[in-house]
Amino acid sequence: MRLLAIETSCDETSAAVLAGPAEVLSNVVLSQDAIHAPYGGVVPELASRQHLKSIDLVVGESLNLAGVRAADMDAFAVTQGPGLVGSLVVGISFAKGLAYYFKKPLVGVDHLQAHIQAAFIEQADVPYPILAIVVSGGHTSAFLLKEPLRYELLARTRDDAAGEALDKISKFLGLGYPGGPIIEKLAKDGNPKRFPFALPKMTDRSLDFSFSGFKTAALRIIREEGISREGAALADFLASFEEAVIRSVMKKVERMTETFEPRALILSGGVARNKRLRARFEGFAAENRLKAAIPSPKLCTDNAAMVGSLALAKLKAGADAFASLDLNAYPR
Ligand code: KG4
Ligand code: ZN
Repeated sequence: MRLLAIETSCDETSAAVLAGPAEVLSNVVLSQDAIHAPYGGVVPELASRQHLKSIDLVVGESLNLAGVRAADMDAFAVTQGPGLVGSLVVGISFAKGLAYYFKKPLVGVDHLQAHIQAAFIEQADVPYPILAIVVSGGHTSAFLLKEPLRYELLARTRDDAAGEALDKISKFLGLGYPGGPIIEKLAKDGNPKRFPFALPKMTDRSLDFSFSGFKTAALRIIREEGISREGAALADFLASFEEAVIRSVMKKVERMTETFEPRALILSGGVARNKRLRARFEGFAAENRLKAAIPSPKLCTDNAAMVGSLALAKLKAGADAFASLDLNAYPR
């Protein structure tokens, strides 16, 4: 079984060829970071235009690298949502065109489920039930998987996503975009205890995430302490802010683990590239004798291999496999 997958939900144009859920023949990712950097965040209109410019090249390159032709594919897959609707429709239209022309099935895939699936590309033996955390620029959500391909949403963010909070503070300080990796680098030798951030209190004991309080607190500290790009306190401030985001994610992971007693933990999404977060997550799993599955960094950010892997797993399970072109984008 050969499948070509396309991912255009946000600001990465990506295409991958797979021969099985864990057999990635190519995974081409073209980042638009340089285009959005001057604005400090993704500009939806620019993102969809850029997808339109790049999609045929990226798909062509992924076929070339895999040494196959589009005509060799047994199926096609594409991200349906959630994401930016203008970006999603570029990938969906392209995938529909291929499926229509070659008369092959087209599988629509959920972006958050695909992020979770990234963990299975590199690790086959992840025991259920699984607690899966997706932390990215657009989403911060937790799911419980009692069995393969069944996703129960446990929590989501009430306001900003974890990566969005990092991106906004980076933008405010004029450090650049995307903020997560820039903050990680600048915070490396900083003291994370210097500026304490209080964890958000959910009055209803909800498991939901929330990051906008950190942003407000960060802006106050920046003002009161005179934090600036050139200032001596920058590294300590960024380390403290990064620590606050990580601590609040881990606090929820601890509570969800107590409540739902998973046997394995998955961490994925762009923010899961963060070394400090990865180490804390792995440490927590080890302490609790749970298996931790964190995809390697290149599979944590948006990529089509995770989309293809999920599509093939769905086709294999027989569920949700359809040869229909009646597929639409869903932004949320
Ligand atoms: O999953 P992703 O590529 O796209 C979305 O679906 O949002 O995630 C992008 C997010 C951005 O907010 C970026 O700042 C963050 O992931 N990110 C990081 C790191 N690398 C990327 N955050 C913290 N540390 C990193 N090393
Ligand atoms: Zn994503």
